[in-house]
Amino acid sequence: MDGNGRWAQANGLSRLEGHAEGARAVREAVRTCRKEGVQFLTLYAFSVANWGRPRTEVRALMNLLLDFAEREKVELRDQDVKLQVIGDADELPLATRQAVQSAISYTSQCQGMTLSLALSYGGRADIVSAARAIALRVQSGQLLPEEVTEQTFQSALSTHGLPPVDLLIRTGGERRVSDFLLYESAYAELYFLPIMWPDFNSKALRDAFAFFSGRERRFGLTSEQVQAAGTVVPLKAGHGFDPHDASNSLLASAESASAE
Ligand code: FPP
Repeated sequence: MDGNGRWAQANGLSRLEGHAEGARAVREAVRTCRKEGVQFLTLYAFSVANWGRPRTEVRALMNLLLDFAEREKVELRDQDVKLQVIGDADELPLATRQAVQSAISYTSQCQGMTLSLALSYGGRADIVSAARAIALRVQSGQLLPEEVTEQTFQSALSTHGLPPVDLLIRTGGERRVSDFLLYESAYAELYFLPIMWPDFNSKALRDAFAFFSGRERRFGLTSEQVQAAGTVVPLKAGHGFDPHDASNSLLASAESASAE
């Protein structure tokens, strides 16, 4: 969700007002995703690196998060949206942590969509923490090194339980991933757009979905294999494709098509 600061500057406002407008855009994005049948939405709200921003800005962002959690939890539950956090929530100031925790509990039974807020999140940090947790299990004899699989690894990441990323959207004109879901985005479709996050509305989101629908997702296979299988991985299903999952219908049908 990049571009709050530049949006504010262009509109003669402070950076903090830009973030507040960004929070409004978050509400619209959540509603639209829910309406469109997205099952998993993950928002990069605060990175590990963002702790290095000026103290006033960090404080304002933490207050916005607190406000968001307090104000939106009722609407989230009404919309059947379950809130969760990825990243190191223990790093958040107490009041923010409590408000977020309360919204998480309040929405815990919702099943329509999972909204994950990435807070004090870093993709590298998450990978290192997973590696450390697995190393400890190996050291204590609970796990053999040869038992460490992609599945073991995925379940040690803070995104465990979430499917791989299908579509990664970045506003603000930069074309980089900036430490977001590094492991999980292996086969993500990347969508960069020049508009600033506060201007990101339902129309822009639907355009992103249209872009996604037009992509041929090959997951390392050939276009012919994919077409023979006649299968697309739908955005609405929210599930990526695990090339090592033998039960995966795309791979299975592509193999039988090439064997014929
Ligand atoms: C990056 O834009 C944005 C952030 C570091 C914060 C994102 C926060 C929000 C959208 C609002 C709060 C979130 C929730 C979930 C309520 P930037 O500030 O770096 O923009 P710039 O590159 O133009 O300076």
